[in-house]
Amino acid sequence: MASSLSLSTSSWCFVGFLVVVWNGSLYANGCYTSIISFGDSIADTGNIKHLSAITNQAFPSLFPPYGQTFFNKPTGRCSDGRLIIDFLAESLGLPLIPPYMQAGSDNALELGHGVNYAVAGATALGSLFLGKEGIQNPVSNASLGIELGWFKHSLHSFCDNASDCKNLIGRSLILVGEVGGNDYNFPILDGNPIDDVKSLVPIVINTIVSIINELIEMGAQTLVVPGNFPIGCSSAYLTVCGSENEEYDPTTGCLVRLNQFVEYHNEFLQTKLNQIRELHPNVNIIYADYYNAAMQIYRSPYKFGFTNGALKACCGGGGQFNYNLTTKCGDEFATVCAEPSTYANWDGIHLTEAAYKVIFKGLFQGPYTTPAFSSLCPTSPQRGAIGLSSF
Ligand SMILES: *[C@@H]1O[C@H](CO)[C@@H](O)[C@H](O)[C@H]1NC(C)=O
Ligand SMILES: *[C@@H]1O[C@H](CO)[C@@H](O)[C@H](O)[C@H]1NC(C)=O
Ligand SMILES: *[C@@H]1O[C@H](CO)[C@@H](O)[C@H](O)[C@H]1NC(C)=O
Repeated sequence: MASSLSLSTSSWCFVGFLVVVWNGSLYANGCYTSIISFGDSIADTGNIKHLSAITNQAFPSLFPPYGQTFFNKPTGRCSDGRLIIDFLAESLGLPLIPPYMQAGSDNALELGHGVNYAVAGATALGSLFLGKEGIQNPVSNASLGIELGWFKHSLHSFCDNASDCKNLIGRSLILVGEVGGNDYNFPILDGNPIDDVKSLVPIVINTIVSIINELIEMGAQTLVVPGNFPIGCSSAYLTVCGSENEEYDPTTGCLVRLNQFVEYHNEFLQTKLNQIRELHPNVNIIYADYYNAAMQIYRSPYKFGFTNGALKACCGGGGQFNYNLTTKCGDEFATVCAEPSTYANWDGIHLTEAAYKVIFKGLFQGPYTTPAFSSLCPTSPQRGAIGLSSF
């Protein structure tokens, strides 16, 4: 599974819903004091920007037109505007969750309303393990374990002693993912057969589970754990993996085999989450069904205003899906569409702000979390019964 660096710009940003950290104040909605987020480009609110300054490596999302819709400049976010975690923070009345690396020095770091440890390109599995499987992360060696290490390292600046820290973590909404997508993206986009990559799924899920268990030991009371997106609908995968021998879903135009692979991952994850729920009945383990929240868009793009359809990228280097491995969004010769809100796909891999908003609503105000997020938050009479009574 040799990985080619030529893929680096296409895949570094590829996977990852990682983040949601709320840290806040009970204050905003009575449920959580802060958001703490782990994951990849789906949730990275700027760590990649600071990381790239350290490693002196350029990344597409550090260049225009990234960020143009909401921030008027690139922030490192892999979209034209806000991400799911940004809409979540806004909906809870919290400021946008700052990246861990922004603080620069430990002394300056405060939990405030949350800290985001998600990094674009991060994998669930460690880079040493992936390297032994022949998989190179073209972006960095960031992984879920490294992000948890950063969190533990920063904890001492958030709280004074063990019980204090435990309470703080217990009052936070903790996002674990999306993560794991890159563990698959790197080898699949590099041309490895899906059946080979499938053997990674149990190892990826076990890694996510072990991080969740560590967080529970540290006092976590409410964790949101997302599944993966329907990658068979992404412009990048349609370009790289599409062929006349592939089966396409007649209603959506998505690649069936890739979406089945994602569903396998997601079902495996949910089975494991059920086991954690049995062991920890007082902890809220919320599964976030990114797959079906996104499928709403692919099934009925017009209903959500995506009048240019859901499969073609707004920003890219041309071709049927406007995704070109050698000319990517952020490159000099890439072009950007006039109205990103009429596209669901932003850069081939990541979605537009408009699409993330639809997904956010489906998840946190709609039916795509289990249990329903709205049943836990805002405050309900059952709050005590679900383990949030400590404050
Ligand atoms: C990860 O990368 C950083 C910066 O390139 C390096 O300092 C560090 O040693 C690496 N860690 C591992 C575990 O390879
Ligand atoms: C832990 O820290 C908190 C906040 O500073 C303090 O109120 C509490 O007394 C401390 N508890 C112990 C056991 O030191
Ligand atoms: C992809 O980009 C390269 C380099 O800019 C260009 O030569 C090629 O024609 C592009 N391919 C498509 C399908 O647009």
